[in-house]
Amino acid sequence: MSHTFPNFPTDCKSLLCKYLSIEVFEELKDKQTSNGYTLHQAINSGVKNPDSGIGVYAGDEESYTLFAPLFDPIIKDYHGFEKSDIHKSNFNPDELKTVDSEQMQEYVVSTRIRVGRNISDLPLGSAITQQQRLDVEHKVSQALNNLNGELSGRYYPLQGLSDNDRDQLIKDHFLFKQGDRFLEAAGLNRNWPEGRGIFHNDDKTFLVWINEEDQLRIISMQMGGDIKAVFTRLHKAVSEIEKSISFAYSKHLGYISSCPTNLGTAMRASVHIKLPKLGDNMELFESIASKHHLQIRGTSGEHSQSKGGIYDISNARRLGVSEVQCVQDMYDGVVALIAKERSL
Ligand code: ADP
Ligand code: ARG
Repeated sequence: MSHTFPNFPTDCKSLLCKYLSIEVFEELKDKQTSNGYTLHQAINSGVKNPDSGIGVYAGDEESYTLFAPLFDPIIKDYHGFEKSDIHKSNFNPDELKTVDSEQMQEYVVSTRIRVGRNISDLPLGSAITQQQRLDVEHKVSQALNNLNGELSGRYYPLQGLSDNDRDQLIKDHFLFKQGDRFLEAAGLNRNWPEGRGIFHNDDKTFLVWINEEDQLRIISMQMGGDIKAVFTRLHKAVSEIEKSISFAYSKHLGYISSCPTNLGTAMRASVHIKLPKLGDNMELFESIASKHHLQIRGTSGEHSQSKGGIYDISNARRLGVSEVQCVQDMYDGVVALIAKERSL
């Protein structure tokens, strides 16, 4: 099928729109990866959703090399990561420098750190087949069912959850929401809800989403601001899961993810934090956030609004920085935000 150059609205601010020149489009438009993933599929989300921040999704690891003339500048713009850079991992919780102060407990409502993972030698969710997706669900849920101690829990397929249970899990910030239009246009919601589900321990402090945007989203969370405890639990969980599953990892790009924003560590470390005064002064709020490489989200996750002066603050950089640095970025930024909030 032949496609013509997309028509972006004049106020479009996505990185897709910024870097998809006519020349790049002409160079890539007829290429496809060995899984049959095309440029058209890679850009469809940003074309259908011109309010995207990024607008592209990879269908497999090969997408990042085959479509490099588009993906490389997007990766550089988002992470500040050059083509010649190499990603290095450091997931050692002992190297994190945090103090669990009274102020952290006063301002921070809850802490959550997640990493995305995809199984090596399989297409990513945008290009995966229905059977491969079911195989992922089976393999991952089996591995999770073998975990012990604090990490032991149960897998709940989305199809087996009642509407009430599902909605409550979403409301309580444990489960992904349904019908995300960005994922829909990227082909990530095909055959929904089959093959999707959530594993969690009794306390819901350790959770794994299966087959959402990435094949796994491994999550550690708890109420309050003890960031080190949350990081330590996540490190333990990821190490245990890695004993039985091999994840897609490249020396250059780190962990391979569907969205280029998640490459590298695939880590988003966040707090829900009460900052009502800064919330009334978004310019100041955003300037501190940007200085500390932070992203501000609403309380129901990405593309949501803040409620009651509570914001979701997380590290923006994930590639070219270690896991420890991702969490350190978030912690240092949160300390600066609390100091400013108190001075207002
Ligand atoms: P992701 O973390 O995978 O990028 P979202 O931003 O959509 O995805 O967040 C997923 C869910 O996790 C949402 O319900 C969101 O409110 C919840 N969440 C994120 N950070 C925290 C936190 N620090 N405390 C409690 N819930 C959180
Ligand atoms: N594709 C969406 C956009 O460009 C989300 C990008 C980052 N978030 C994510 N969940 N991958 O705005």
